[in-house]
Amino acid sequence: MFRRKVKDIMTDERLDTVAIITDGNGRWATKRGLLRSDGHIAGAKRIQPVLETFRRIGVHNVIMYAFSTENWKRPKEEINVIMKLIHKYLIEVVEEKLKTDDSFCIKFIGDLTPIPEPLRSKCIELENKAKDRPFCCSVALNYGGRDEIVHAANAAFADGHTRLTEEIMSRYMYTGTTPDPELVIRTGGNLRISNFLLWQCAYSEYAVIKTLWPDFGDREIMACVRDFYKRSRRFGGLDKDEAKKK
Ligand code: FPP
Repeated sequence: MFRRKVKDIMTDERLDTVAIITDGNGRWATKRGLLRSDGHIAGAKRIQPVLETFRRIGVHNVIMYAFSTENWKRPKEEINVIMKLIHKYLIEVVEEKLKTDDSFCIKFIGDLTPIPEPLRSKCIELENKAKDRPFCCSVALNYGGRDEIVHAANAAFADGHTRLTEEIMSRYMYTGTTPDPELVIRTGGNLRISNFLLWQCAYSEYAVIKTLWPDFGDREIMACVRDFYKRSRRFGGLDKDEAKKK
């Protein structure tokens, strides 16, 4: 039903890769008189259903912002809760899924060096278990867009490149072969980029919605997707119709 609805609004625009800034867990909890950690629990529970919906409507890659290079500034207890939730609602779920689903894989983008064990090893293990499958979830963990650009340039130099090009830089990004997102969704209503995919989002379409991440569901996905298909993506050029007139 949902899939048919999406088919009805599709244009020849491609929606292959979606990136999500999952913001608003704290506000969701505060509004209900709960602890911020309750908001993160509710947020973590949304990951699986949201991934399923995007997969059903034909998206092949979903990139999710789980923890940024700046999130270490939060209280230690909150960081511990987030790491535990990533283990319980992502790692454990993905581990089970990989046993039965051969069209799914997971990637981690970011510098995993400071991620506490055993989470760090588990991330690497699951990423290596399955690669290049039709549907992939990339999780941004200790991720920062500026850090990624510096890391990519240094890695390219270390490999002997002496002159960087856009193509070389793209290859060295943490996202590797994952295509640049056509659409970036930010929940929680804030109009900022938060150091997310600075290189890859040069021409991405943005959808900022007020809904807080724990409340983000099929209705909100549909609204973002509908809005995406209404846009005219020009990449600095002209509309297809206008270009024909020239
Ligand atoms: C922002 O909400 C959300 C985070 C810092 C991510 C929390 C991480 C999880 C729930 C674990 C797994 C997540 C994914 C996506 C794989 P906030 O605390 O900044 O909310 P606020 O803006 O309302 O304070």
